[in-house]
Amino acid sequence: MDTRGAKKRLSGKWHAVYRFALFTCVLDAVWGQIRYSIPEELEHGAFVGNIAEDLGLDLDKLSARRFRIVSGAKKQYVEVNLENGVLFVNERIDREELCEQSLSCSFHLQVVIENPLELYRVEVEILDVNDNSPSFPWTEFNLDISESAAPGSRFPLESAQDLDVGSNSLRTYLLSVNEHFFLDIQTRSDGSKFAELVLQSPLDREQQSAHQMVLTAVDGGSPERSGTAQIDITVLDANDNAPVFDQSFYRVRLAENAPKGTVVIKLNASDLDEGPNADITYSFSGHAPIKVRQLFSVDANTGEIKVKGVIDYEKARMHEIYVQAKDKGPSAVAVHCKVLVNVLDKNDNLPEVILTSVSTPVQEDAPPGTVIAVISVMDKDSGENGNVDCEIPHHVPFQLHSSFKNYYTLVTSDFLDREAVAEYNITLTARDMGSPPLFTRKTILVQVSDVNDNAPHFKQPSYTVYLTENNAPGASICSVTALDPDSGQNAYLSYSILEGDIRGMPVSTYVSINSDSGNIYALRSFDHEQLKNFQITVQAQDAGFPPLKSNVSVNIFILDQNDNPPVIVSPVPINGTAPSGSVPRSVDAGYLVTKISASDPDAGQNSRLFYQLLQATDPSLFSIALYTGEIRTIRQLVEKDPTRHRLVILVKDNGQPPLSATVSIILSVVDSLPDSHPDLGDLSLSAHHSSNFNSNFPSMGGGGGVVGGGALPQVYCYKMCLTPESSKSDFMFLKPCSPVIGADRFFTSGSGFVRRLSMPDASLQICPEVCHSFFIFISICISGTS
Ligand SMILES: *[C@@H]1O[C@H](CO)[C@@H](O)[C@H](O)[C@H]1NC(C)=O
Ligand SMILES: *[C@@H]1O[C@H](CO)[C@@H](O)[C@H](O)[C@H]1NC(C)=O
Ligand SMILES: *[C@@H]1O[C@H](CO)[C@@H](O)[C@H](O)[C@H]1NC(C)=O
Ligand SMILES: *[C@@H]1O[C@H](CO)[C@@H](O)[C@H](O)[C@H]1NC(C)=O
Repeated sequence: MDTRGAKKRLSGKWHAVYRFALFTCVLDAVWGQIRYSIPEELEHGAFVGNIAEDLGLDLDKLSARRFRIVSGAKKQYVEVNLENGVLFVNERIDREELCEQSLSCSFHLQVVIENPLELYRVEVEILDVNDNSPSFPWTEFNLDISESAAPGSRFPLESAQDLDVGSNSLRTYLLSVNEHFFLDIQTRSDGSKFAELVLQSPLDREQQSAHQMVLTAVDGGSPERSGTAQIDITVLDANDNAPVFDQSFYRVRLAENAPKGTVVIKLNASDLDEGPNADITYSFSGHAPIKVRQLFSVDANTGEIKVKGVIDYEKARMHEIYVQAKDKGPSAVAVHCKVLVNVLDKNDNLPEVILTSVSTPVQEDAPPGTVIAVISVMDKDSGENGNVDCEIPHHVPFQLHSSFKNYYTLVTSDFLDREAVAEYNITLTARDMGSPPLFTRKTILVQVSDVNDNAPHFKQPSYTVYLTENNAPGASICSVTALDPDSGQNAYLSYSILEGDIRGMPVSTYVSINSDSGNIYALRSFDHEQLKNFQITVQAQDAGFPPLKSNVSVNIFILDQNDNPPVIVSPVPINGTAPSGSVPRSVDAGYLVTKISASDPDAGQNSRLFYQLLQATDPSLFSIALYTGEIRTIRQLVEKDPTRHRLVILVKDNGQPPLSATVSIILSVVDSLPDSHPDLGDLSLSAHHSSNFNSNFPSMGGGGGVVGGGALPQVYCYKMCLTPESSKSDFMFLKPCSPVIGADRFFTSGSGFVRRLSMPDASLQICPEVCHSFFIFISICISGTS
């Protein structure tokens, strides 16, 4: 034990002091009882008292009288030297062990002497020596004090113990110098002292979280002894610090349409406290608007503000987010900060095109510059993202004019033509200047309305109709069609036939037209022999205002039908009796007796005539030329031939079916040729003829010549039709026609050309005429002069 070691070291000094005190006490000894006082802790052999002397005993007889001491204590603290009678310390005496904390401490001895037996009582008082230092039960005290402890708070300290008693016991406590605590020392009723630690000034864990002090206990011995213990004070945290944001105001930029979960900012608040007092949760401040709470979220633990909704620049260009931070300690106080989020525009809005007025259809004759539509464009984005430009294709006759920003007029840049383009789909492209740009297309349908700017026009420049005569009245003979590129009423056509005269009769008595269909109808049955062709003018008129018209001529040719039988022109039966003629008996074979002349009012093949001898008294005597109708003798006449011959001649045209006529003539054989022949006229081939045409009938000459002979009541015009073959075969066909101009002589050459003979007094007129496809009609008009 430390205390015990300390006592031993001090014992030598104390011994000397108490020795002198002992002597004074010994003198007080009374009979039968002796009292000694010695300090504790004397060493073995230390002198206590001369007991023999103090009892008046003879030293020499001590042994003889069997001097001895009997101790009542367990230990034999003292012993007597029988030689000199000195009582000395046998065993170290610890007062504290012997008497504990009693203020007085002593033990008793019995001294026994025999012969005679004498008993003495010896009391040995043990005096305290300051051999114990105060000591604390622990060398270190741990004390936890909240930083929120109020000044004046008391914290009892464990007392120190000092085994010594009296003035050697604990006198007071001392505390090492510090700024927060002092000691309050109090005395119990038993006089012992204890100390309380009193808080003098407040603690602050955040400044200093631990304090160390030394507590010293001092006794009242001289010299004084002391013991120390260390006091370790741990300052417990109190939630006395609110969290603090890095900044009270943050400014961040956030792109529009940032995806959900994007971290806008990570807030950082710190709290000087510790533990839950420094455990911070983040949340919206009470006055954060609902809108902000819908768009953003605050992570309670990390302080991250994230995007939660759709960030639309067009709805809000900035947001103010108020966030609070609060620790988890008791009576936590919230602190606030503000985050200003500036939203950056993205090009996320298409330009919008608004057609404020569209005037369509537009008339095709509208002058250039006519306004078709007023257009406004807008874009919700801002800056270049909202800067919109408009355009239309270049190839249309329209232009965009911009009177002021974002307003456009669509005007015509040229005249329009509905008949060329009836409607335009103008694609308007509105494009912003964002990157990448966004654009909107809108199609404006511009319809062009019709103006009556086109006259009807017929499909053909002229119409030609070939109509066979004897047509049924009322039948359609042809149809004309006109077209009008305009539309509606402007293209609604009606047809009419312009008034006029045909041979003194109104056209309307000849033909009519269906005004809707353009079908033309014959109103009468035509006769080629009377009317070979005529022309009408058909007019088409639209229903526009004013109406437009156009004309077309329709040429109608009446084609021939074989509706006329040949007509015997000469000789003509007079009063029902067959014409007669005479033949001189002396003529040679081949003598031209007479010539049958016939005509056919029809045209072409229908008027081409063939002559045949149908009956003859003597078929061996006369023959008739198939084409010319010339009757000639075949042989010389002989005596036995009858003098009167009857010939029946058939004249037949070439129509299908053919029509024919017959004529009978009576020929008398005479001995001499009379001067004039009353019936057959001049049948000779002499070049002579009367200077006028007053001969009985025209006669046809053979060999391609035609000689007008006899009296004609009128001037004839001959029509000659040449077949393609006839040009090679010298075929020629003549027929009277009108108007008559007259001619003397002509013939056709082998090549088919008509040649004029040398006729100083006659002129020949050749009039080409259209005929059936296989024929070429040439009117040969012979005009005669006297
Ligand atoms: C938060 O702020 C504290 C004090 O300013 C600092 O020490 C800490 O590093 C910050 N934390 C973050 C994540 O920025
Ligand atoms: C214009 O557009 C409309 C609608 O798409 C379509 O019916 C019409 O045929 C178009 N016209 C032209 C001339 O392209
Ligand atoms: C059509 O013919 C009539 C009569 O000849 C004439 O008056 C009119 O001007 C013509 N019209 C046209 C468009 O040629
Ligand atoms: C025809 O006969 C009638 C009586 O029958 C007669 O009067 C007339 O003269 C005759 N004509 C000729 C030309 O002979």
